[in-house]
Amino acid sequence: MKIAILSNGNANYSTKRLVEEAEARGHEAKVIKYKNCYISLNEKRPDVFYKGKRLEGYDAIIPRIANYMTRYGCAIVRQLEMQGVWTASSSIAITRARDKLRSAQILTKAGVDTPKTLVSRNTADIDDLLDQIGLPVIIKLATSTHGNGVVLADTKKAARSALQAFYLYNEDGTNILLQEYIEESAGSDIRAFVVGSKVVASMKRQSLDDDFRSNLHKGGGATSVKLTEEERKMAIKAAKAMGLHIAGVDLMRSSRGPLVLEVNASPGFGIEKITGRNVAAKMIEYVEHNAGRRGSKDKVGA
Ligand SMILES: Nc1ncnc2c1ncn2[C@@H]1O[C@H](COP(=O)(O)OP(=O)(O)O)[C@@H](O)[C@H]1O
Ligand SMILES: [Mg+2]
Repeated sequence: MKIAILSNGNANYSTKRLVEEAEARGHEAKVIKYKNCYISLNEKRPDVFYKGKRLEGYDAIIPRIANYMTRYGCAIVRQLEMQGVWTASSSIAITRARDKLRSAQILTKAGVDTPKTLVSRNTADIDDLLDQIGLPVIIKLATSTHGNGVVLADTKKAARSALQAFYLYNEDGTNILLQEYIEESAGSDIRAFVVGSKVVASMKRQSLDDDFRSNLHKGGGATSVKLTEEERKMAIKAAKAMGLHIAGVDLMRSSRGPLVLEVNASPGFGIEKITGRNVAAKMIEYVEHNAGRRGSKDKVGA
């Protein structure tokens, strides 16, 4: 097969691993820097150009779209979808996963347990919101990544001022979530790497200092972990609800059972080093089994 890996960094570990495993399995794998692609909208066909040439002849694409370039990256993926190219992740599913509010709406509708969440744009509601959610409270930007837009407020005063700042200095209209603080799992969460309908690797991340965030970018450490049956099923259900066949599902162990925190559309492969599992090979296998079939099941839509 001829596989395009849409990634801006061919030196990136995940990208390198995908190329390596695709080649090891006899495929031709090319890294396409989607930021250097351009879209041509014309009445004949939806085109994508790369390095002066029309991008064509691929049996499958594996999007590895960075958070900071979601809109452009997804526009390129969408253009290729319109040509009928099979994609490991649909543009609509990636877009949804990048918005924590939209994700929480989809997950709760599908019956996947998540931390209790409130969303408002009215500063006059603050006291009422805080009364409902309790203290301490987590305040997060719907577009946060690497833990950078997530705040823990212990008091009403701190929560009120953090919220006001978020509302005020938020010109692109990003939604702000107020979330119940899952104290029992403070500083730790679980990443389940889902491929198709299986969890192929799982790890527990733990912040190594007193930070409540377990993001590895914030200096967290990770170890391999065995999921309970409930956690495994929940991870698969969450990925499915989001329309992602390849996903990094983040779970928290709470006193009322596992809760899904977020579903990552482009999960990193650092998990291979932690767990010793060959995640890249599982992904390529998934592509082999599914790319021949007509389209991914997700409809291309808004
Ligand atoms: N409701 C919560 N209760 C306790 N800890 C949380 C909660 N939400 C987030 N965290 C912690 O903060 C980290 C970052 O939050 P997350 O929602 O995953 O945002 P990001 O996408 O920026 O990583 C999580 O990995 C977790 O350790
Ligand atoms: Mg996270």
